[in-house]
Amino acid sequence: MHIDTKLPRVGTTIFTVMSQLAMEHQAVNLGQGFPDFPVPDLLVESLDRAMRAGHNQYAPMTGIPALRSAIANKTERVYGWRPDADREVTVTSGATEAIFDAIHAVVRAGEEVIVLDPCYDCYEPAIDLAGARAVHVPLDPRTFAPDWNLVRAAITPRTRMLMINSPHNPSGAMLSQADMAEVANILRDTEIVLLSDEVYEHIVFDGARHESVLRYPELRERAFVISSFGKTYHCTGWKIGYCIAPPALSAEFRKVHQYNTFCSFAPAQHAFAEMIERDPAHYDTLGAFYEAKRDHFAAQLRETRLVPLPVPGGYFQLVDYSAVSDLDDLAFCRWLTTEHGVAAIPLSPFYETPPPGQRLARLCFAKNQATLDAAIDRLRKL
Ligand SMILES: Cc1ncc(COP(=O)(O)O)c(C=O)c1O
Repeated sequence: MHIDTKLPRVGTTIFTVMSQLAMEHQAVNLGQGFPDFPVPDLLVESLDRAMRAGHNQYAPMTGIPALRSAIANKTERVYGWRPDADREVTVTSGATEAIFDAIHAVVRAGEEVIVLDPCYDCYEPAIDLAGARAVHVPLDPRTFAPDWNLVRAAITPRTRMLMINSPHNPSGAMLSQADMAEVANILRDTEIVLLSDEVYEHIVFDGARHESVLRYPELRERAFVISSFGKTYHCTGWKIGYCIAPPALSAEFRKVHQYNTFCSFAPAQHAFAEMIERDPAHYDTLGAFYEAKRDHFAAQLRETRLVPLPVPGGYFQLVDYSAVSDLDDLAFCRWLTTEHGVAAIPLSPFYETPPPGQRLARLCFAKNQATLDAAIDRLRKL
């Protein structure tokens, strides 16, 4: 049977490709973004208790009340505004599901969604499946700051959504208060919905403040704000995230969520509810935890011929490899994995049009020191 693919440009993701290559070559895997240290004990114990207590059947479609209420409490504590746990908070199977649901809830065929390149790879397929078109606006190729005039110029009568991501994957760049004011100016008096991907919300460094859309009444009134417990609690494989949006947007979001997954893994919802309420110090200190890793790893990288770029947030370190090689980034990352035993992620798959001559690779530092040391031993030989 001939299948006329709906997603002609989608193949195996670069993360899977590099992880497989890393396995085949016994490379230290700093490619795919997942921590290799344990999930907090309280979370594991709580998950175990939830399963033994029989919380193994369908959860309520929007998420268990205890978790929605814990998310609302946390949001108020961190961002100074409390969403309505019943009408504005929805638990999803990871941020990926939430992003898909949000796009499909409001974006129609023929409309346009503005994304800022480089951007996370799940955005565009979700836009394509909605029959819409992703309009790619490049970030600065070195600082990854947005040029809001380019965003303004990209808006047409068909623009339905603007997607932003701070702290940013792959660069770690963060949007400032001034950026948020620009976003508000751009969206005011339009029908454009904002999708803010904030999965690294608690991983911010150097005393900076995460400028969540949830802090800004004018922005949150038109936004889906999406986060993921996978990043905050070192459990990317549990795939639990959530979306905060005003009631009218949440109602549409839930229509998609209801027939996409209906509900997310019930025992984990109980575990996260307990973890968030009982141990706020975990997310309060997550920035400091990763900042120490970032600093140590950057110092180690300075002993190699790779040049680390500044990392304001998130758990990825970009390195400039132009002193080592003139290969393009896909070829370089392959070569690094197969010949030097360190897996990294190239940036070009995050772009529609990669900047010519960009020689950057992404390394994940959400790793035990022993893993990072093993990588550095190999990178010193470059
Ligand atoms: C920017 C960004 N958005 C969304 C996701 C997906 O999150 P989840 O694993 O919760 O689906 C990731 C995961 O790496 C990410 O980096």
